Amino acid sequence: MPATAEQDRAELDPRHPAEDAHRQTEVPGQRTQHLSRRAQGIDPNHSPAPSPAPSPSKPPAAIDVPPAPSAYRMPPGLKYPLHVYLGKPWVKLGEPIRLFEHLHKTFGPISWYKFLGTPIVFCNDPAYVREVLINQAGSFVKERTLQRMKILLGEGLITSDDPIHMRQRRIAAPAFHRQRISAYGDQIASIASAESSHWQPGQILDINNGMLELSLRIIARTLFDAEVTPDILSINVETNIIMGLYNFLVAFPMLEKFLHLPIPGIVKFRRSRARLDAIVNRMISERRSEMRADPTRDRGDLLSMLIASRYETDDHSVGEDGMNDTQVRDEALTIFLAGYETVANALAWTWYLLSQNPGPEAELHAELDQVLGAGPNRRLPTLADMPSLRYTEQVFAESMRLYPPAWAMGRLATKPVNLGQYRIPAGSHVFFSQYVMHRSPEFFPDPLRFDPTRHTPENKAGRDKFVFFPFGGGARQCIGESFAWMEGILAIATIASRWRMQYKDPLPPVPQARITLRPTDPMHMQLLARE
Ligand code: HEM
Repeated sequence: MPATAEQDRAELDPRHPAEDAHRQTEVPGQRTQHLSRRAQGIDPNHSPAPSPAPSPSKPPAAIDVPPAPSAYRMPPGLKYPLHVYLGKPWVKLGEPIRLFEHLHKTFGPISWYKFLGTPIVFCNDPAYVREVLINQAGSFVKERTLQRMKILLGEGLITSDDPIHMRQRRIAAPAFHRQRISAYGDQIASIASAESSHWQPGQILDINNGMLELSLRIIARTLFDAEVTPDILSINVETNIIMGLYNFLVAFPMLEKFLHLPIPGIVKFRRSRARLDAIVNRMISERRSEMRADPTRDRGDLLSMLIASRYETDDHSVGEDGMNDTQVRDEALTIFLAGYETVANALAWTWYLLSQNPGPEAELHAELDQVLGAGPNRRLPTLADMPSLRYTEQVFAESMRLYPPAWAMGRLATKPVNLGQYRIPAGSHVFFSQYVMHRSPEFFPDPLRFDPTRHTPENKAGRDKFVFFPFGGGARQCIGESFAWMEGILAIATIASRWRMQYKDPLPPVPQARITLRPTDPMHMQLLARE
């Protein structure tokens, strides 16, 4: 996930042609017209233009050497490198959304700027997103801010690139198949019910923390069949410490080289990382011994699948070797971390939005009372109720429109790439932001209004998939998407059938773009029991 983009760019020509190709300069207040896809030169049935073959005289490189300068045509963008604009309200360290919003407002659907010598393209049009994630996905790898997560996650699904990624995804996929995750539905509702059974009417709750704990319990129980012990709950604390340093690493990548030094913040990071490893390693070694003692016992959870998996050999037969402990750890930790904070944030924002929008809140309650019963006849939701919980699903979707937990995504071009009428060099970063796209008036009229009916089947039918894309798309689309929908809908239904919440802080919450979009400060909600 990007925060500010950065990197050394040894692989790029220092006399980068993009600057020459750059013709349009920034004129404050002037907005480039929003061009149609055809006008941009993107054919929806596009098959990617072949990239020029690398010169046979050059040694093979991870990134092709860019061809002659005239081959590029950059979109409109900032005239000077980004640092020149430091001091402008839209350039603030750690607040990349401001920059993205500025680029979109000023230049329209595609623009670019240069940061530390790297060309960065920002797109805010579904056609470009499709080009990068699907049509020309082979010309991109994950961008480097995300690669930096390897310090924490190793070679897990999120950070790996092909061919490792493809193999890992095949191994993890069965744990996320629809039939498999349906077994988790009842557990989700009963965990949400048990968690909220401790709540008292009138109590004021830090809702973000409450939702983090809830989703941590859900992931631990469903995917890892683990007792939720205090050390599992402490994952939240350790992750917060690690994320703190991660944000620094994104801004100052050179810090990576100093991770072994006894600098206080880094020592804290190393300790947290070691504690996190110890928790996951203990889960793995207990499960390995259990599986050795009774090979016929199948707990059917993700951890067992990862341990029991065997790599395919080159001829696609199954090999002898499974994953070693480090590989299982990387994968387990990746899924654990990817799966709990995203859903927790989405739920926390949902409670906030409902508290501010009495109309949709009343409509949600009406649906829940009708499907689950009201008062003493009320029951917990089950998976079978999901098709009837239409409005609940729309509420969750609308919350992820306004506050998408994955607020932006990026890729690094490994070859020169055509995007519509533009041609960008290898080594360019391409970013798009769910936060900006989901709030663009051209795609969602009156975008700041919370209106769950935007997600009725009729309204969805007329919309490009990449206008609303909280789970990404293409080969790297979120593997946990069905799980997340199920968890979100069942948790909202379980809690909202019993509780209403009132936002108690004096100012509206401010979203903070970290790895996920979380509220900057704790969000305090007062609990009101529904009769
Ligand atoms: C509301 C909740 C969630 C949101 C918004 C979300 C969003 C995303 C997005 C946008 C990506 C693609 C990133 C990219 O292509 O650069 C992704 C990937 C991923 N997500 Fe989620 N996610 C959510 C929940 C989950 C859950 C519940 C799990 C697992 C239990 C999970 C596991 C993963 C993994 C492993 C990947 C990497 C997939 C790959 O590269 O093959 N996510 N997620």
